[in-house]
Amino acid sequence: MPEEIESIMHELRKFKPGKEFRKKAHIKNFKQYQKLYNESIKNPEKFWAEIAREIDFFKKWKRVYCWDPKTLKCKWFDGAKLNVSYNCLDRHLKTRKNKLALIWQGEQEEDVKTYTYEELYKEVCRFANVLKKLGLKKGDRICMYLPMIPELAIAMLACTRIGVIHSIVFGGYSAKAVETRIKGCKAKILITSDGSLRKGKIIPVKESADIAVKKCKSIKKVIIVKRTNNNIQMKRGRDIWWHEEINKKGIKDECKPAMMDAEDPLFILYTSGTTGKPKGVLHTTAGYLVYVYITAKWIFDLKDEDAYWCTADIGWITGHSYIIYGPLANGATTIMFEGVPNYPDPARCWKIVEKFKVNIFYTAPTLIRALEKEGNKWTKKYDLSSLRLLGSVGEPINPEAWLWYHTHIGNKKCPIVDTWWQTETGGILITPLPGAMTLKPGSVLRPFPGVIPDILREDGTKASVNEGGYLVIKQPWPAMLRGIWGNKKRFRETYFKKFPGLYLTGDGAKIDKEGDFWIMGRLDDVVNVSGHRIGTMEVESAIVSHKSVAEAAIVPYPHAIKGQALYAFVSLNKGVKKTEKLKDGLRKHVAEEIGPIAKPDRIQFADALPKTRSGKIMRRILKAIAEGKEDLGNTSTLADPTVVEILKQKRQ
Ligand code: WT7
Repeated sequence: MPEEIESIMHELRKFKPGKEFRKKAHIKNFKQYQKLYNESIKNPEKFWAEIAREIDFFKKWKRVYCWDPKTLKCKWFDGAKLNVSYNCLDRHLKTRKNKLALIWQGEQEEDVKTYTYEELYKEVCRFANVLKKLGLKKGDRICMYLPMIPELAIAMLACTRIGVIHSIVFGGYSAKAVETRIKGCKAKILITSDGSLRKGKIIPVKESADIAVKKCKSIKKVIIVKRTNNNIQMKRGRDIWWHEEINKKGIKDECKPAMMDAEDPLFILYTSGTTGKPKGVLHTTAGYLVYVYITAKWIFDLKDEDAYWCTADIGWITGHSYIIYGPLANGATTIMFEGVPNYPDPARCWKIVEKFKVNIFYTAPTLIRALEKEGNKWTKKYDLSSLRLLGSVGEPINPEAWLWYHTHIGNKKCPIVDTWWQTETGGILITPLPGAMTLKPGSVLRPFPGVIPDILREDGTKASVNEGGYLVIKQPWPAMLRGIWGNKKRFRETYFKKFPGLYLTGDGAKIDKEGDFWIMGRLDDVVNVSGHRIGTMEVESAIVSHKSVAEAAIVPYPHAIKGQALYAFVSLNKGVKKTEKLKDGLRKHVAEEIGPIAKPDRIQFADALPKTRSGKIMRRILKAIAEGKEDLGNTSTLADPTVVEILKQKRQ
């Protein structure tokens, strides 16, 4: 075990949910949780069949699930027919037609749009009809490269309505990243916008889209949403406007939902891994829907009257599962925010909470830490009394941030659900159930019903109490990824090889003596910067592709706000000068290759990197240097031990 994971700080106080909260909660006490959990393990078929009854199927399944750890074939609700958009929209029309499904808050305060379930249903049907008219069919792929605007939600649901698979690219990624994602799934259409807003400035995303599409033969049309009204080049025969298409005569506001098989692909979402290129995580229809539906309901304790706000970007899995599919499957009112938390000032989130009387607020520790740093004057400006439940996701939350969140945002009365999961898991796997559990700051507590996690040592034996080890999941759950798009081998090697047949999460964790889980961070080359998952190898290849660079190694170091940040050791080609300007150039280059989120905070030029005699860069030592450690551990296997002293002296 790397040693830093042993150093998690402990806050020993415990926090019980209030009586009122418990009384009204879906899951009211620990006993009820235990009963559900035990049933879900003893008889998963019965458990999941019962949950699935809350979803509308056109045709019932033949089998609840089957799993073969040898072939890795995994099927949930096989034989069933259903449609995701039908479950998120149509089925609510009887009882919630005029209820708000979506509240959209634009970056400008006065920019608000709302959609009732009926209005959203009609928009989705109209856009689904546009896609059909363009010739899209079941199984085709569409990429979306959009800011957080309602059209993104509408396009997602429209895809699911007609069985088209969406692949959403985070709006902050570069043209290169868009290109590889389009190529990865041979998308026929790209949906983008004329621009996006960031702190009042216009970002020309259409230009990036154009650069990307130029190299992608599969793209037949680019659909452009008018957002910023700035001048863009429309390519004749290829580019079309969203508003023109959707308002054309003959585009009806009804569209029959496609009968999808339970295991038909729903979406692809790229995420970073250990090696080189990002991988396209594949999620399918029935299992994913059932799982995000029930996790949203029980973990966020969703009630019909709630206003629910998750601050994530839809470009990440959190937005897919817990802004769109989970909340809408529950008939909830979900809030979507286009802006950033510190514009125009650090009270922006709290202003939105007051404005829409938000009851449930779900965000990332990095946002909590950043706003904590601004001081409490901002939180006091607005009325936060509507809040009844808080959530955290994306990275470990340090107890200090937890306590600030609990005290200053939750007024000491809101439970905090610290939810652990991944792009690959589709939904939350380990988490408190807010009415049923006593909270410990920093602990993700217990597995959701149906989930069987364990902590293993290197040799596959079970770790003992409080011993850190590999977090694995021993049985499939409905929303488990079904594969890596176009790469069967990588699916097995990444997730099921180290401990054959068990799902390897990549995280380290431990279980304390009361049986509660603590996540201790990644054990692979994945780094979590501000809750964004970044592969160090990806950033390394980006830097090395710069003409001045000979070699580079990227390691994480602890950062007060971001959790982790990137530290780059770079050795330059002969004759290249080590200047600050070049550092800026390297950062810019990384932004172009991947996106601004992958830019290293610190860059250190090095004449030589520490290597083993066989020439392997010893990243462990570089990490210790970046962290400012005096003791670098065992350096006896280095080819040239003097290298490290020089690096240490010049630490940034
Ligand atoms: C990685 C997955 C799941 C949605 C957002 C990130 C880390 C996630 C927690 C948490 C500690 C967490 C893990 C995981 N992580 N939630 N509550 N406590 N760590 O999805 O981009 O696929 O990243 O985020 O390291 O493996 P992702």
